[in-house]
Amino acid sequence: MSFPVHRPRRLRRSEALRQMVRETDLSPSDLIYPLFVVEGKGVRRPIAAMPGVFNLSIDQAVVEARQAKSLGVPSVILFGIPDHKDAIASGATDENGVVQKAIREIKSAAPDLQVVADVCLCEYTDHGHCGVVSGQQVRNDETLPLLAQMAVTCARAGADLIAPSDMMDGRIGALRKALDEAHFDDLPIMSYAAKYASGFYGPFREAAQSTPQFGDRRGYQMDPANVREALKEVALDLEEGADLVMVKPALAYLDVIAKVKAACDVPVAAYNVSGEYSMVKAAAQNGWVDYTRVMMEVLTSIKRAGADLILTYHALDAAKLL
Ligand code: PBG
Repeated sequence: MSFPVHRPRRLRRSEALRQMVRETDLSPSDLIYPLFVVEGKGVRRPIAAMPGVFNLSIDQAVVEARQAKSLGVPSVILFGIPDHKDAIASGATDENGVVQKAIREIKSAAPDLQVVADVCLCEYTDHGHCGVVSGQQVRNDETLPLLAQMAVTCARAGADLIAPSDMMDGRIGALRKALDEAHFDDLPIMSYAAKYASGFYGPFREAAQSTPQFGDRRGYQMDPANVREALKEVALDLEEGADLVMVKPALAYLDVIAKVKAACDVPVAAYNVSGEYSMVKAAAQNGWVDYTRVMMEVLTSIKRAGADLILTYHALDAAKLL
């Protein structure tokens, strides 16, 4: 039976009806707000490629985190950008590193806010790779103890969730073991399980000053053409003890989000990355698209695809509308 019995437009007649039958809703509590933390005081340095996003000193990150909380966004994820970078990412594993200090201060200023620690070496290495390097090679197994040490220092600083984004093999198991040994057996891990080697990270690398000085990340991040491999990465991370899994980027990978959601029974997060944010901002600044409308459409699509949580630079803008 079809037209004229069926008229799908009947349920679109008013906003009240549309709201009643809406299949996907977005809430500020779905969102995780990323912050880029630098050394210093009173620093609020705009990131040219990401209008509305800043490098923040810890005191300013505290202000931003409090604002997130007051808008109903329950979590922030922190990226630390140290003054000093070196070959072994010393800043990443230092109890008094910039991210460890930021975790401590945000947790003491806003104890109810969830603080997620991104665990990766690329913001801390002078060569910009996510692991330790020998010659032109990013060494997998030699990187694991450093990641584990970073995770433990972030845990000691008070992080609520550990989120490794480096894409080394075996890192979830290594982190789980190190955290358990340090008596953080109840601290969850959100794995960047399916993280692709993506051009959409361009603006982030300006924000974190983490562009690789040689080569690229294709030797450890995933090939954008693959989806079955994403399921394998997710399965391995779950086996190693991941509590949540993430797909990254989000927008060009909605099919991956949907498949990961169908394949596992843990919460799925998706990272609406820097390039996705900057494209919307740039088009809106040119008057080519309506910022608010396109932002909400993007976030809704990520949720509709199956994401339970969305990491997004739009978090505060979106929360203000929700
Ligand atoms: C690596 C990391 C990256 C992002 C999050 N964690 C960059 C990369 O892999 O090059 C990208 C996030 C974004 O683009 O918003 N530590």
